[in-house]
Amino acid sequence: MKKLFLLLITSAAFAGCYYDNMDEVYPGAGLFQPCDTTGVISYNTHIVPILQNNCISCHSGSGANGGVTLDNYQGVYDVATNTALIGVTWHQSLYTPMPPNYQIDSCSLVQLKKWVDAGAPNN
Ligand code: HEC
Repeated sequence: MKKLFLLLITSAAFAGCYYDNMDEVYPGAGLFQPCDTTGVISYNTHIVPILQNNCISCHSGSGANGGVTLDNYQGVYDVATNTALIGVTWHQSLYTPMPPNYQIDSCSLVQLKKWVDAGAPNN
């Protein structure tokens, strides 16, 4: 009888763990970001947050690394239209990979590409 009780307790504990999936327990907590690459990619809605999260720390103001400023539209437009923005983020050969120590997520990469292909509009 003692053994059965223990078995019940253990299986209950494991069943509890099944729902300990952060995305399911806390939808929208910021851990799970649905990847939306459909429709028009907007500079303000999509591109700015990507740059803020991954690039701005090194690429803003007068001390911007490599003379590349990504904290204003004109600066971003310049590297978008001279192919450097896609080259560095997609880790294409002949470009210095950016950010230097990792690659941004594939959803953001696709959004960047779509936005550049659309002419890098200030939308
Ligand atoms: C940890 C600091 C750091 C971060 C974060 C960073 N960069 Fe850079 N970036 C640099 C440095 C340093 C250089 C100059 C490197 C060189 O010229 O070899 C540079 C150069 C560049 C260049 C010019 C490269 C070329 O080949 O002319 C571009 C474009 C660029 N970064 C874009 C980005 C983008 C886009 C992001 C975010 C996705 C980013 N960087 C994130 C440090 C950073």
